[in-house]
Amino acid sequence: MSRAVAEQLIGRIRLRMIPVLADNFIYLLDDGEQAVLIDAGEAAPVLEIVRAESLALLQVLITHDHADHTGGCRTLQDELGVLARSPGVSARDEEWLGSRCKVVSTPGHTKVHKSFYFPELGLVFTGDALINGACGRLLGGTAEELHGSLRWLAALPDETRVFGGHDYLLENLRFAEATEFSVAAVERRRVQYGVDPMGALFATVAEERETNPFLNCASAAEFAALRAWKDCF
Ligand SMILES: [Fe+2]
Repeated sequence: MSRAVAEQLIGRIRLRMIPVLADNFIYLLDDGEQAVLIDAGEAAPVLEIVRAESLALLQVLITHDHADHTGGCRTLQDELGVLARSPGVSARDEEWLGSRCKVVSTPGHTKVHKSFYFPELGLVFTGDALINGACGRLLGGTAEELHGSLRWLAALPDETRVFGGHDYLLENLRFAEATEFSVAAVERRRVQYGVDPMGALFATVAEERETNPFLNCASAAEFAALRAWKDCF
């Protein structure tokens, strides 16, 4: 997959998907003047954009405290004075760049994990809870917690686009295929990745429900068994 910065316009808001480290994404939203960042595995590509475009970076919204999501925070604070917000803050409704943002607790990958849902923009940033076609490992939280978080995310409006913290799509689809879950839809998403990688990666909630076996577990026990299988897949 190309590791270039990709972007899309949603009304007056520009969303940039910035690849960092080996396979992480961080996300920059801006309205031409102000910007907000979701996660900050690295600082350099963000500094380059905000300086070139004279954007005022207001805050860094952190999904969880793993270094590949936070490694750039200190430099962004030193260079721009912008603060990164702990994922430990309360779940609540906020407004960024004139758009509503629902800060949602989505624990399980880690004990403390937030997702950021922008209903008017039709976007949800899910860190390592929901990651293109699968979910994060249990690294601090429980199967019950992650199952509950995924159920909440899977119930968002069908057309909501999902932005997870990594590009794990091909390996996730390989696992989905092994589970024999929704074979035709999984194959369609794999083919799409070859011609439209961003469209395949950042699928809608409806497409995730069709291709992600972790969103279709009837119980936490079923989810735990599936997660354990993938851990050694
Ligand atoms: Fe993580």
